[in-house]
Amino acid sequence: MTHDACLNVGLCGVELPNPLVLASGILGTDAELLARVAGAGAGAVTAKSCSLEPRAGHPNPTVLAWGPGLINAVGLANPGIEAEIKELWRAKGLLQPQGAALIASVFGDTVESYARVAARVMEAAPALVEVNISCPNVHDEFGIPFAADAGAAADVTAAVKQAVAGRAPVLVKLSPNVTDIAAIARAVEAAGADGISAINTLTGMVIDVHARRPVLANRTGGLSGPAIRPLAVRCVYEIYRAVRIPILGMGGVASGRDAVEMIMAGATAVGVGSAVYGDGPEVFRRIHKEMESLMTELGYEHVQELRGVAHR
Ligand SMILES: Cc1cc2nc3c(=O)[nH]c(=O)nc-3n(C[C@H](O)[C@H](O)[C@H](O)COP(=O)(O)O)c2cc1C
Repeated sequence: MTHDACLNVGLCGVELPNPLVLASGILGTDAELLARVAGAGAGAVTAKSCSLEPRAGHPNPTVLAWGPGLINAVGLANPGIEAEIKELWRAKGLLQPQGAALIASVFGDTVESYARVAARVMEAAPALVEVNISCPNVHDEFGIPFAADAGAAADVTAAVKQAVAGRAPVLVKLSPNVTDIAAIARAVEAAGADGISAINTLTGMVIDVHARRPVLANRTGGLSGPAIRPLAVRCVYEIYRAVRIPILGMGGVASGRDAVEMIMAGATAVGVGSAVYGDGPEVFRRIHKEMESLMTELGYEHVQELRGVAHR
């Protein structure tokens, strides 16, 4: 007798109907769009990263599809926490009947502003809070990103944990633009992170050879999509070895095979970002179906049996 594969997972104590999560920044925070993604089968959706004050972001062009991936320099454009709380509330209402969890995403430019925005975002009662630490640390005279410095990453984590005060689990989102991502993972775990999201985009550049200048107005941007998947899988694999807290793994996932690979590397749940750009929200339904048939083919009944199997 054959059974349907079971895809439900617990992420930091939050029950998800399946491990597929919309990554932050892909569809903004628009409540109807987030609900559409949940309707197409995402187990959770992450809102666009939000700061205390509104931010205009970088001038256009900000996103380019360059073949095996995207490059973007959106510059963390967002309407600020006041408007975000209202939209997250609406999104929560629409998501509830679908059983999908809402993940809020916050960022700041100082440890204090991270703590303040995290405290405010709890007014919308998200199921989880993701802390995007891939922004420059303005306490540091060199402007090194928080994600690239174990001490700064730990300081942000501890401050956000205190601000959230146990009202939701805190995921800290790491950057691949570091020499030792496992060391950063250990630092945020020690500072109290409930889980780790990995990875954010990889810094790159695409030059328009006819115009003789970088395509993006910001010159550099974040690479995402299939081009970065092996790198993301390696990061998740290293983080899984380094920490005991769950991982929301992402980077280039576009198929059921890719999601299974991420879970075999050690991820508990799997983020999908750039693939939604290409295929729209329906990509979740396809990835879900592909996961089920691959699991059946490989002889797995429950997605939890897959976690970390590549480490044997
Ligand atoms: C256009 C765009 C905007 C993004 N904005 C955010 C953001 O606001 N916050 C964040 O943490 N990550 C942001 N990301 C990174 C994604 O959440 C994800 O970590 C990354 O793209 C890797 O996954 P993917 O290859 O499936 O896209 C953005 C990515 C893209 C392509």
